Amino acid sequence: MDLTLASGEAIYGYNWRANGRNMIASSIPIIQDGQVIGVFAHSVFLDILDAKEMIENLLSQINMYKREISTFHQAKYSFDDLIGSSQEFIKLIKIARQIAKHPDTTVLITGESGTGKELLANSIHNRSSRSSRPFIRVNCTAIPENLLETELFGYEEGAYTGAKKRGKPGKFELAQGGTIFLDEIGEMSFVMQSKLLTVLQEYEVERVGGSRPIILDVRVIAATNRDLNQMVTEGAFRQDLYFRLNVFHLEMIPLRAHKEDIAILIEHFLKKFNVRLRVDIKGISDKTIKSLEHYQWPGNVRELENVMERAMIIADMEGSSMLSRRHFGFLNTAFDVPVSLNQTQDLKTITQDFERQVIKRAMQEANNDILTAAKLLSIDRTTLYRKLKKYNFPFS
Ligand SMILES: Nc1ncnc2c1ncn2[C@@H]1O[C@H](COP(=O)(O)OP(=O)(O)OP(=O)(O)O)[C@@H](O)[C@H]1O
Ligand SMILES: [Mg+2]
Repeated sequence: MDLTLASGEAIYGYNWRANGRNMIASSIPIIQDGQVIGVFAHSVFLDILDAKEMIENLLSQINMYKREISTFHQAKYSFDDLIGSSQEFIKLIKIARQIAKHPDTTVLITGESGTGKELLANSIHNRSSRSSRPFIRVNCTAIPENLLETELFGYEEGAYTGAKKRGKPGKFELAQGGTIFLDEIGEMSFVMQSKLLTVLQEYEVERVGGSRPIILDVRVIAATNRDLNQMVTEGAFRQDLYFRLNVFHLEMIPLRAHKEDIAILIEHFLKKFNVRLRVDIKGISDKTIKSLEHYQWPGNVRELENVMERAMIIADMEGSSMLSRRHFGFLNTAFDVPVSLNQTQDLKTITQDFERQVIKRAMQEANNDILTAAKLLSIDRTTLYRKLKKYNFPFS
C-alpha cells in the first residue's frame, strides 16, 4: 500500500499481513490532478486459508470432470465377455491374459472380420495395470487421410488456418498412461505408416506445428483383418512398421475352426437378447444347433450374434418360445443347405431335397414366372414344369 502511495503504480495480488491474518491484496492509487492523493486497497481473499480452500475445491471439481471424461475413454469389454470353451479358444485367451500383464508390450491382433479382435483389445487393456487410464480407439479407415495426422498427433495453436485457437491434443496424447488401439491398421496409407513408425521408434510425439516433443507412456495394440505379411510382400505395408507392431501376435480363430463353441455362444446370445429384446425364448432345438454347426460362418461370431437376434425376434412375433430351423432363413436358402454325412438320409433324398430348394428359390426370385425361373436355372421350360409337378409346387 505504501509502495503504491510512493510510486503511484497499482500493485495486484501481493501478500498483506493485517490483524494477524495473511491476506492477498491489490492496491490502486487514487490520482487527482496528477497527484496521488490516496490508495484504494482491496483484499482479494480475506485469508490465505480461504484461497487454499478455494483452490482445493477447484481441484476436486477438476478431478471429478477428469474422471467423468475418462469414462468416455474406457474399454467396454473384459475377458468375461469373450465366450468359448474349445481348446484353441482357451489357449488363445490364456496367452492374451498373460500378455495383458506386460503393460508396455505392443500387441498385434489379426483375424477375420467378426472374430472378436476389438473385444480382445478391450480385454487386454482392462486386465492390465493401465486399466484405470484411458483406452483410445482409432479407426484408421474412418478418419480421412488428410485428418489422420492431426487426429493422431494433435496440433498446436495456429498450426493451420481454421485450427482451434488453443490447439488440440492427438489420440496418442489422450491415451497417455493407457492404451491406444489402432484398429484397421492395414488400411493406413504408406505416408502415415512412416509417421507412425517414427512415433513408435522414439516413443514421443510432436503436435503438428509444435516444437515440444511429448514423451509417450502408452501401450499400442493394433488390429487388422488383412494379411499384413502378404501386404508387406506386395509392398503395400512397411516391413519395418510390421516388425514394430508384431512384437506379440495374437491370431483370432475363425468360428468355423472352433465349431464346438457354437452351442455355448448360442446359449450366451439367448440370455443376452432375452434381456435386451425383453422376450422370453427358452431354447433352441438340437437339430437347429446341428445345422448351425454345419454352416461356414463367413462373418464369424458377429454373424452368429446377428442371426440369433433376428431369429429371436421372428420367434417372438410368432409366439414360439423355442428356436428352430425356420427362424434361421439363411439355412433354408438353396446355397447354404447344410448336409451332414452322418445323416440317415441317402444321397438321392438329399439331392432331391436340395433340388427342390433350388427350384423354390428360383421361383421366388422370378416371382413365379416359369420362363424367367427356367432361365435362372439354365433349363428349359418343360423340364421345369416337370420338376414343379414332381415336387408338388403350386403353379399355373
Ligand atoms: N468370443 C466371443 N464371445 C462373445 N461375443 C463375441 C466373441 N467374439 C466376437 N463377439 C461379438 O462379435 C461382434 C464382433 O466382434 P469384434 O467387433 O470384436 O470383431 P472384430 O474382429 O473387431 O471384427 P472386424 O474385423 O469386422 O472389425 C461383437 O458384437 C462381439 O461382442
Ligand atoms: Mg474390429
